[in-house]
Amino acid sequence: MEEKTYSMPRIGEKAPEFKAVTTQGEINFPADYKGNWVILFSHPADFTPVCTSEFMTFATMEKRFNEANCKLVGLSVDGLYSHIAWLRTIKEKIEYKGMKNVEVNFPLIEDITMEVANLYGMMQPGESSTKAVRAVFFIDPKGIIRTILYYPLSLGRNFEEIYRALIGLQTADEFSVALPADWQPGDDVIVPTAGSCGVAKQRMESKEEMTCYDWFFCTKKLDKDTVLKKVLKK
Ligand code: BEZ
Repeated sequence: MEEKTYSMPRIGEKAPEFKAVTTQGEINFPADYKGNWVILFSHPADFTPVCTSEFMTFATMEKRFNEANCKLVGLSVDGLYSHIAWLRTIKEKIEYKGMKNVEVNFPLIEDITMEVANLYGMMQPGESSTKAVRAVFFIDPKGIIRTILYYPLSLGRNFEEIYRALIGLQTADEFSVALPADWQPGDDVIVPTAGSCGVAKQRMESKEEMTCYDWFFCTKKLDKDTVLKKVLKK
């Protein structure tokens, strides 16, 4: 049988299209999410401990993501009935770090054929040939992939970092700025690097409300309320 080859999706490319069955009905991806940010993420397997801790955490934070105009969509290469049974177990039986009675309301894709997982480079045989790695795709309202994270089977993701990245991407878009290491809303942001000798000189001599560490590295203030008002539409 001829083996299909898949290329890894890349940042800046259109999110690969697919139709799938999920715990919330069928979805047509990414068309159904047009106008929203969407985080498509995979987990290795249902009824496993790291994945359970991740689902409880993500489900508990879902409202915050929705308020930032972002929908969540999960995937593993398990079947629909396994997904349903696992999500029921999480809600009815698992209490973890103060989280209990957690209902997972976002769709969880069944992907026993591994078609979607392969399309998104979630199957990485060096790590496992039967389980998807922990992948996270941030897809913007136009259906373009904007950030990709991959984690191995043994390491649970940091969902506060995933939230920070989402807010950061939206902030960079809305305010035409870049964001420095460890940026959080309220921290200074980086203004586009000077593109001419004149602008570089002006920046270094200017008394504008900008801090220049050198001509190519200037920051300005962007207060937290302004960011959150724009991103969370509050
Ligand atoms: C886990 O989620 O705990 C897990 C899943 C697959 C392999 C190892 C750990």
